[in-house]
Amino acid sequence: MPDLALLQGIHDEALPLIGQGRVADYIPALAGVPANRLGIAICTADGELLGAGDYLDPFSIQSISKVFSLIQAMSLYEEQELWSRVGKEPSGNPFNSLVQLEFEHGIPRNPFINAGALVVSDMLQGRLSAPKHRMLELVRELSGNQHIVCDKVVARSEYEHSARNAAICYLMKSFGNFHNDVDGVMKSYFNHCAIRMSCADLARAFFFLANKGVCLGGRRMISERQSRQVNALLATCGLYDGAGEFAYRVGMPGKSGVGGGIVAVVPGELSVCVWSPELDPSGNSLAGTRMLELLAKRLGRSIF
Ligand code: DON
Repeated sequence: MPDLALLQGIHDEALPLIGQGRVADYIPALAGVPANRLGIAICTADGELLGAGDYLDPFSIQSISKVFSLIQAMSLYEEQELWSRVGKEPSGNPFNSLVQLEFEHGIPRNPFINAGALVVSDMLQGRLSAPKHRMLELVRELSGNQHIVCDKVVARSEYEHSARNAAICYLMKSFGNFHNDVDGVMKSYFNHCAIRMSCADLARAFFFLANKGVCLGGRRMISERQSRQVNALLATCGLYDGAGEFAYRVGMPGKSGVGGGIVAVVPGELSVCVWSPELDPSGNSLAGTRMLELLAKRLGRSIF
């Protein structure tokens, strides 16, 4: 069983890695985040929360929001319709790559790369009257924290530097796989990425994936089968072109964001979130990955 001494030890051991990665700066508003932050929080099977370091500091969740978008789309669309517009395969390419989209006819490899999440956001836009608000409601319910907000400065900064995401959307539109106004969908997508949550919030919010689809508050968010499906996608696609390395070192379904957060789950046992803003070349938190690797090793846990 994880305890506070274990988390503190993992935190202390990862601390010297600070200085070896790079804070994301392609979104200017993220570049100013202090690089020396390090936090870890675990939510155990009985719902207890344990944390060490800066685990209560909110940070930009970025691509971690792609999991929340996917589960909304899974509830709003038939399975076949959803998976006709986005694939379930690892891309082996950077998260914001355009190359596969051209020769794969505008169908993104999976819902966790930018292209996939933009298609999912397009689908949400088609069914929800207020997608930004619905997303906030969802993360507040999942984490039990009613104070979670979107950082409008980060959302605006992303919008002002959105050439690549816009290119992805228009390429998909040219293949008929994007139905709504590109600008409007991108604004929702950026608002989702710019939500601020702490390790404690995110460990609690991902509890449902360790708990067969039922969230901490007791509501079923997705079916048990869907929960297994999401975990399978996280294990194969959650860390982009670093997914194989992450599976090898950590062995848990997980999702990273360029804000430096990574969430991971051991089904039936725990959900965990780590945060450290400096990233490795794939865009995944460097010290964060190390903390998860140490956790998996010390607990003797892996899904493999
Ligand atoms: O669209 C983007 O590029 C960012 N809002 C999200 C990218 C991201 O977090 C990729 N994660 N490692």
